[in-house]
Amino acid sequence: MNQDQLKQAVAQAAVDHILPRLDSKSIVGVGTGSTANFFIDALAKHKMDFDGAVASSEATAARLKGHGIPVYDLNSTAELEFYVDGADESDEHLHLIKGGGAALTREKIVAAVAKTFICIADASKLVPVLGAFPLPVEVIPMARSHVARELVKLGGDPVYREGVLTDNGNVILDVHNLSITDPVKLEADINAIVGVVTNGLFAARPADLLLLGTADGVKTLKR
Ligand code: 5RP
Repeated sequence: MNQDQLKQAVAQAAVDHILPRLDSKSIVGVGTGSTANFFIDALAKHKMDFDGAVASSEATAARLKGHGIPVYDLNSTAELEFYVDGADESDEHLHLIKGGGAALTREKIVAAVAKTFICIADASKLVPVLGAFPLPVEVIPMARSHVARELVKLGGDPVYREGVLTDNGNVILDVHNLSITDPVKLEADINAIVGVVTNGLFAARPADLLLLGTADGVKTLKR
């Protein structure tokens, strides 16, 4: 199986997991990226079985609408049973690095609201220690240099993601060369820097379930 087939398999596994728990009033939180796109395509086949979705990015909203799935504002959504999204890295505690697609802030907000966060990823994303994937940090544009200097003090090497503006109108710094042994602390430390909107560590609110696509089938890891 190639990487796309593994992503497709976990996307289908996520649909299989949530479908029996959805009803005509259910709203599903949907992540961003290629794995989330496979999830959207698989979910769309069952669009009559739930009410609609909350999207973690403009790109996801467009894809959902393209399938005829109603997209709701999170502010008008009282309950969100499930949030399904990919990740750039996960450790065995289901602490994640996300934001490769620059959607980390909205992803973190929807994940915070959802009762159950299901992460879907191919096997290459499971790592012993987070940090080989550069950690994305969303930053208010005028604070970019200040935040970069503070990130260096924390031991990282920030690189400005040229030409990228987030859906919120901000910029991304990708922090290289971090070996993240305490993701909960680092998430809080980076978020405390003035000018940071949020960073791509999902450790204070990790995933609840990781559906991992492997050559031997989909494996389920629980927190
Ligand atoms: C987007 C994300 C994605 O979930 C992450 O980048 C993984 O993407 P893909 O499923 O394409 O490998 O956090 O901001």
